[in-house]
Amino acid sequence: MNEKNNQKSGNHQNSEVKKKTRSLLIAGNWKMYKDHKDAYVIATALKEKLADISTIRIVLCPPFTSLQSVGQAIEGSSLLLGAQDVHWEREGAFTGEISAQMLLALGCKYVIVGHSERRHLFHESNKIVNLKLKAVLKEGPLPILCVGETLQERERGKTEEVMEDQLKGAFEDLTPEDIGKIVLAYEPVWAIGTGKTATPKQANDVHLFIRRKLEEKYGPEMAAKMNILYGGSVKPENAKDLLKEQEIDGALVGGASLEVDSFEKIVRSGVDL
Ligand code: 13P
Repeated sequence: MNEKNNQKSGNHQNSEVKKKTRSLLIAGNWKMYKDHKDAYVIATALKEKLADISTIRIVLCPPFTSLQSVGQAIEGSSLLLGAQDVHWEREGAFTGEISAQMLLALGCKYVIVGHSERRHLFHESNKIVNLKLKAVLKEGPLPILCVGETLQERERGKTEEVMEDQLKGAFEDLTPEDIGKIVLAYEPVWAIGTGKTATPKQANDVHLFIRRKLEEKYGPEMAAKMNILYGGSVKPENAKDLLKEQEIDGALVGGASLEVDSFEKIVRSGVDL
């Protein structure tokens, strides 16, 4: 087990910066912003600006209608395409829905599953999240599974309980091999789009809790490999402090991923950590 996994939750440190042991993944979740033309312009600019970065996996997740244009814009670069949601069936009479197979055909390498906006605004249960995860894993893209507590849950001291519940529900009937393919994103609901970021310590503590739970259930090797991203008001000003935490393996960025300069700065703050 490496040093970072021996770190005790209350034992927060950063006097000495250690090299990351997992490579970072930084994803931009564009939510319902940017039509296919604007998306093409932004993605083309990002492709140029981030061309020198080879050590961080960079994923752009535009709306469904912009997937094709962003895919074309980033062709030939190391930037990766991701989607924001998926339906769990492969095809059928599901008006308005998009399947994992369709996303794969468009070149999506990642699919966000269980984002808190899906859970809260569209009433997605853990059961639905589980079905979507299974569909994505079956077809081939890699899921970015979001978990996170509300402000009320945090204030009631229920953060860890919520994490356990969401992970248990999402992972139901998945094999350890499948779970090993998942990227997790801890996104506290109270920090999304509010300008209130979790402090690096708050985020690190939850990430450590999640990793310990994974370790108990699936063993240290798998737990040590899992990428756990942080999301919630990540900005150029706070990205480095978050990313240098031992348990934070990247970021899922909303608002600040819509501006080329700010997303570039966030990605660059993860270089050489
Ligand atoms: P903001 O970065 O806008 O807070 O959004 C975070 C998010 O929901 C990313 O998925």
